Amino acid sequence: MRVIIYTGKGGVGKTSLAAATALGAAAHGHRTLVLSTDSAHSLGDSLGTPLGPDPRTVAPNVDALEIDVLTELERSWKAVHEYLLRLLASQGVEEITAQEVVILPGMELIAALLRLDGIEQEHRYDTAVLDTAPTAETLRLLSFPDAIEWYFDRVLRMQRRVTRVVRSTVGRAMKTPLPSEGFFDTLEELHERFRRVRALLTDPGRSTVRLVVNPERMVIAETQRAYTYLCLFGLTVELLVVNRIMPKEATSGYFAPTRSEQDRNLGSLEELFGALPQLPVPRYPREVIGRESLDQLGKDVFGENDPARIWPSSPPIRFRMREGAPSIELTLPLVDPSAVQLSQRGDTLYLTVGAYRRSIALPVAYTRSQVERAYFDKGTFVIRFRGGDAAKH
Ligand SMILES: Nc1ncnc2c1ncn2[C@@H]1O[C@H](COP(=O)(O)OP(=O)(O)O)[C@@H](O)[C@H]1O
Ligand SMILES: [Mg+2]
Repeated sequence: MRVIIYTGKGGVGKTSLAAATALGAAAHGHRTLVLSTDSAHSLGDSLGTPLGPDPRTVAPNVDALEIDVLTELERSWKAVHEYLLRLLASQGVEEITAQEVVILPGMELIAALLRLDGIEQEHRYDTAVLDTAPTAETLRLLSFPDAIEWYFDRVLRMQRRVTRVVRSTVGRAMKTPLPSEGFFDTLEELHERFRRVRALLTDPGRSTVRLVVNPERMVIAETQRAYTYLCLFGLTVELLVVNRIMPKEATSGYFAPTRSEQDRNLGSLEELFGALPQLPVPRYPREVIGRESLDQLGKDVFGENDPARIWPSSPPIRFRMREGAPSIELTLPLVDPSAVQLSQRGDTLYLTVGAYRRSIALPVAYTRSQVERAYFDKGTFVIRFRGGDAAKH
């Protein structure tokens, strides 16, 4: 399944573009699903039809849904959910309150990822278009499979063993309920599903991210940061959609300064986003709501192109020999080198940029060697390993 993710600052046009892309992809013959992962859903408003947590057909070959955390949790998280409820009940928390507090912050993300995995497994769609929440939330969503991997690997196995011992010894006398085997089975299954969704999201042949900006300074600044972090997580950033460009004829008088400001900002995009292909979209005189306006938007953005095609870009992480030494190259644009930290533990490399950390599992040939040097070569971060053993393999 092809996955297209739209992200960007609030209000830039993500929902409109996701809907337009889905309609356009369907017109090119793809069985398409467009899904909103933003808990403040507006996909239904954009398409002009109410949506729910299950797919509804909104046009020929196009289904749409808005993810609902509670529904998803009940479906995929049952044993964990039940345990948390029992745990809270044992602490005297009433059921109604408990039902609310078990929805922890971040669960929307978990729900969205599990749902995407479920959809991929169904093989009902060729293309899934994701309409996401504003950037910060979406970065958390997309970094989550990487972060949770660490937890599952180290903590879960140990906890399971400890719980087994406790249950067969002092467990009976304890007031606090212990997690059941079902709880752990659910977590293990979730682990598997996160792994699968991570593989899907970081496969440049299937999943790509399209950044949406408006020609405004604050919007551009936020999107630059997003671009960096998306690359850090190994997602392929494919396009920059530049929405709401004021047409020349509408920019005399009152709006004249707007247009010249936009011109300046448009001029800076190439410098800031390098070779990332840019698709310009005009600012329309009216809101983009309903099939007709969305079709028009799709035509203006993609022309005759299939909106589901993959625009060529280099993969975000590359393992290759460089000047005789095994190296890792990461596309990591717009980073202040002093904000980058690198450490190696066994077969895992940890790369921290600002507040985000990524773990990179090293291929076998690299694990016998150690990092010799790391440096920036324009927008590429190069991690060079000692030659020696690894070079021979
Ligand atoms: N190019 C455009 N011209 C005019 N209005 C637009 C354009 N793109 C989006 N809009 C309108 O701007 C508002 C916000 O767009 P939306 O797609 O919901 O943004 P986001 O999902 O990024 O918050 C909506 O009312 C939408 O119809
Ligand atoms: Mg939106």
